[in-house]
Amino acid sequence: MPTADELKQMAALAALEKIEGGMKLGLGSGSTANHFVKSLGARVRDGLDIIGVPTSERTAQLAKAEGIRLTTLDEVPALDLTVDGADELDEKLRLIKGGGGALLREKIVAAASRRMIVIADDSKLVPHLGAFPLPIEVNLFGLGATRAAIEAAAYRFGQPATLTRRLAADGSPFVTDGGHAIIDASFGLIRDPEGLSLALSAIPGVVEHGLFIGLATSAAIATPDGVRWLH
Ligand code: 5RP
Repeated sequence: MPTADELKQMAALAALEKIEGGMKLGLGSGSTANHFVKSLGARVRDGLDIIGVPTSERTAQLAKAEGIRLTTLDEVPALDLTVDGADELDEKLRLIKGGGGALLREKIVAAASRRMIVIADDSKLVPHLGAFPLPIEVNLFGLGATRAAIEAAAYRFGQPATLTRRLAADGSPFVTDGGHAIIDASFGLIRDPEGLSLALSAIPGVVEHGLFIGLATSAAIATPDGVRWLH
C-alpha cells in the first residue's frame, strides 16, 4: 500500500507528463506541489526549457535550488498552466486551498493561467467541501470588524462558522507572504460554495479566501490503484 506521501508523488509525476518545453508555468505550494517542483527540476537539469512563477516564497526557494528559471506575473502576465495541490476538491473541480497559507498568490497565479491541474492524493477528493476549515486571508486593519462580517455572512447562509485566527508553529500569529492574517472558518459542509465565495469576496477586509471555483481545469488524483484524472 503506498503511503500518503508516495501518492502525492504519483499525482505530481502524472502532472509532469503534461509539461512541454517552452511552457510558462505557475508553481504551486505545499507538500504535493513540492514533489512536482522537485521532479520538474530534474527535467530542467536534463534540458527541459520552461519558466515558472512561484506561488510562495517557500516555493521560490525550492525552485531556485532545483535550478528552475523564475519570473513574475509583471514580466509574464499570462501563463500556460499552473500545477498546485489542494486541501479538498470535489468532482466539479471546486477546491478549498490555503492550508499552507499561500492562497492569495495561488489564486492570482491560477487566475492568470489558461489551465490549472490539481495534484492530490485521494484523501483530498470529497463529496462535499467543508470538512477542512476554509482559510480566509484578511487585512490586519479592522480585523475585529472583518471577523464579525464573516460571522454575519455565514449566519445569512444558515451555516454559522467557528472562526480561528491561524497561529504559526511558534504560537505567534501567522503572517502570509503578503503580510496578512489568516482566519480558518469551520462551516461544516458548505452547501453553496459559489454563493459563499461571492459573499466572502464582498467583505472589504477579506483579501481573498480559499474557495477556488472555476479555476481548476483538471485534477490528477492518486489512488493505490493508479492515477485517476478528473476533467
Ligand atoms: C497551500 C495550499 C496547498 O496546496 C494545500 O494546503 C495542500 O497542501 P499539501 O499538498 O501539503 O497537502 O493550498 O496554501
